[in-house]
Amino acid sequence: MNKIRMTNGSELPLEMHKVKIVQKIALKPIERRLEAIKEAGNNTFMLNNRDIFLDMLTDSGVNAMSDRQQAAMLLADDSYAGSESFYRLEASVKKVFEKKYFLPAHQGRACEHLLSRVLIKQGDIVPMNFHFTTTRAHIRLQGGDILEIPNDEALKLKSVHPFKGSLDIDKLKQAFKDHGERIPFVRLEAGTNLIGGQPISLQNIKETHAVCKQHGVPLMLDASLLQDNLFFIKTREAEYKDKSVLEICNEVARNVDIIYFSARKFGNGRGGGICLNDDAVYEKLRELIPLFEGYVTYGGMSVKEMEAIAVGIEETMDMDMISQGPGFIKYMADELIKAGVPVVTPAGGLGCHLDAGSFLPHIKGEEFPAASLASALYIISGVRGMERGTMSEERNADGSEGVSAIELVRLAMPRRVFTMSQINFAIDRIAWLFKNRDIIGGLRWKEEPKILRFFNGKLEPLNDWQERLVQKFKQDFEDSL
Ligand code: F0G
Repeated sequence: MNKIRMTNGSELPLEMHKVKIVQKIALKPIERRLEAIKEAGNNTFMLNNRDIFLDMLTDSGVNAMSDRQQAAMLLADDSYAGSESFYRLEASVKKVFEKKYFLPAHQGRACEHLLSRVLIKQGDIVPMNFHFTTTRAHIRLQGGDILEIPNDEALKLKSVHPFKGSLDIDKLKQAFKDHGERIPFVRLEAGTNLIGGQPISLQNIKETHAVCKQHGVPLMLDASLLQDNLFFIKTREAEYKDKSVLEICNEVARNVDIIYFSARKFGNGRGGGICLNDDAVYEKLRELIPLFEGYVTYGGMSVKEMEAIAVGIEETMDMDMISQGPGFIKYMADELIKAGVPVVTPAGGLGCHLDAGSFLPHIKGEEFPAASLASALYIISGVRGMERGTMSEERNADGSEGVSAIELVRLAMPRRVFTMSQINFAIDRIAWLFKNRDIIGGLRWKEEPKILRFFNGKLEPLNDWQERLVQKFKQDFEDSL
């Protein structure tokens, strides 16, 4: 990837693609936005897309497809069993991950479900760099639990560590001493989602693998966010700067035993899959696919999506393609920092993460600072972010609120979707909100589901702060949306 420098010396994350198809979107009046967030119980998951201007909820299944992906979809081979589309996908996956077997599943959490069912038994402990919500839920559903052993920088929101996602090797060795037989596998998550899309170094993957081998335990890689992680290995890990993305990807794959991915992220489509060499584990997994997913040559995916993912994975091995997300995220983070807004640093993949704890120090964890910020941001901009704080946690065993150590609002950057002016608009509104942060107040539960409560739960404001926020916005912006 060549750097693009402007006359004043600054670097520009220039898009190496052009727009061929567009979707019309609308910025609704602020009165409607206030109404919509109230209807949604201050949970941005519950908003209707028609009320959203910039959807930064997630990058999952909403990345822009390429013309080559769209073209491939027309060639899909409709067949329940033995579809050519599956074999094309299998070939594409094997080229990057170099494992003997590939099993399809309808999305990432389906892989987690199947892997947990086959590998976890009651009382097991899975050491990992960090959990993802669905991963932890599936491990616990099978009677196991997780042990998070990230490096010391992982939870520091302000840092210059290039690989905050890396696992602490000494803690892993200790975990084997403490839990030995109870460890069925070790899990590494590329582009570690919940700490702000932070990468693992390839060096760390190798070291983790060496410890796993010593104990005869497989190393599992969640490769859902591997595309960003590959970009960071190439740009931040000196040893790999001259290697191609494919070479780096192959080397990552050679240093893990089981790989699974959400193709809603990795591959820019909608699906997922598991890759491995172990015959016995493969046999067990294969038996479950027709029961839970669909026949073993589609695993719940449409043939069209399989074609799109096959091409999407191939295109992921291109720096022009995988640099776009991290480039835009860094631009957004840098501009917000200039405006004094607290964001997670260094800028990672996946999205720009606002540090809601520092943004709203006057709101305590039990009153959901991240959810309050996500709600306020939607009201004043139509930008939909995602709460990643206490609301995304679970209650403690004694029933008390499971207050999160970090409160983030994730502004996901679906790949190749937004233009620079849209990003500039979001930056402007966030900077305004920061200046007016004292108006923002807390929230409390109105409806609280038991499992993964952030998806469907509803919250209500503690007082009339949302109305006051609207008033201030109208004062400052007059007739502007
Ligand atoms: N692992 C990671 C690291 C993920 O980020 C996700 C999904 C999954 C597994 C589950 O995959 O959605 O295809 O079932 N992350 C989405 C997100 C939901 O918005 O970050 P899935």
